[in-house]
Amino acid sequence: MKVSLSLLAIAQTAEAWSASSSRGTFGRPSALSSTVEDAPPASAETYADPSRYLNDHPSNNVPPHIAALVGRGLHTRPDHPIGIVRAKIQEYFATLPHEYVVYDAEDPIVTTTQCFDDLRIPPDHPGRSPSDTYYVNDETLLRTHTSAHQSEHLRSGADCFLCAGDVYRRDEIDSSHYPAFHQLEGVRLFPEEEMAGADGLKGEEWTSSDECATISVDLKNTLEGLMDHLFGETEKKWSEDYFPFTTPSFELEIKYEGEWLEVLGCGVIHEEVLQMADRPDRRGWAFGLGLERLAMILFEIPDIRLFWTDDERFHSQFKEGQITKFKPYSKFPPVYKDIAFWIPEDFVENDFFEMARGVAGDIVERMELIDEFTNPKKGKTSKCYRITYRSMDRSLTNEEIDALQDSLREKVEVDLGVEVR
Ligand code: DAH
Repeated sequence: MKVSLSLLAIAQTAEAWSASSSRGTFGRPSALSSTVEDAPPASAETYADPSRYLNDHPSNNVPPHIAALVGRGLHTRPDHPIGIVRAKIQEYFATLPHEYVVYDAEDPIVTTTQCFDDLRIPPDHPGRSPSDTYYVNDETLLRTHTSAHQSEHLRSGADCFLCAGDVYRRDEIDSSHYPAFHQLEGVRLFPEEEMAGADGLKGEEWTSSDECATISVDLKNTLEGLMDHLFGETEKKWSEDYFPFTTPSFELEIKYEGEWLEVLGCGVIHEEVLQMADRPDRRGWAFGLGLERLAMILFEIPDIRLFWTDDERFHSQFKEGQITKFKPYSKFPPVYKDIAFWIPEDFVENDFFEMARGVAGDIVERMELIDEFTNPKKGKTSKCYRITYRSMDRSLTNEEIDALQDSLREKVEVDLGVEVR
């Protein structure tokens, strides 16, 4: 088994984005800001207003419990593990010879153009579907990755930058997946003189050029240095990967407690991405990494929900600039409940997962499919899920969980059209 500790999103994203087929025509649809024209200018202070994310547009699939998470700014808190890791990464980049501009307060609402089209993510890519992504309306969504800001910064003339922020994805539920998490993106464009030998090259000619190799080598050296800065000397392994917005693309794994863990995706920025960002004469690299995964490893934080807790027993353990091991203050017992139902043809697992978090909140620790079969006569499929309920700060009673489970049962019947068995 490769990565049992699938601690964060890079692995799953890499998979999701790489499932893409080759894209058709693309270009920048002109609707970049039409939907937000009348809105007051957004700023970090306004992001925490849930009404920005909730509306009755037919495409809106942001539930209130997700809207309530936006704008918490964990990555900008100096003594929050997410903020501490982010600062440590910035500290490393500050030692490099090029100056990296740091962005950390972009609007988490982006357009489909920013999040997908500008990055060559094709219209039929699974990562764009409403089963994976939170849409505010047809044209805007909660960013699914910080890569959504690459093009705007490139277009505005930035050459070297870092960009950190909260990102949102509908996903499975377990100790390492949470629908909101944080990423940090890095981009470096090389000076034109250094790339002059590859002027005008495209496709294969470009990717087999010495200049493209120079960028890959610099990218790998830079990121290996970052890993050493974070983890001390660690074993590392590079493999080829696929992202629509970089070519070649790579993933980096590090060895942690005997296991290989994917920590980031990266690559040489695709020439078409640079063209669309009005930087056709430049070349460079980009990478994206998940802050939760790094923080879970560095601080030994066992459950991703802890990052969002208000519990002082969590927060009092962390200080600006210090990486310290988390001391679990309690482990309350879990309550397990199974639920089995016949599913309709259009059943979307993520809708069900989300419904459980909507009903019971963060005490839903894990949801797993434990049984599935199709009755050939009826032509129907049954799925049975085990839900682990556990609070991080108190003991749960069987009665309260039964009540929640009953509400969930009712809700899935009404809203998802399943037939509970
Ligand atoms: N956006 C990708 C993700 O969420 C990560 C990533 C991969 C970012 C390659 C990059 C990159 O900038 O070059 O999985």
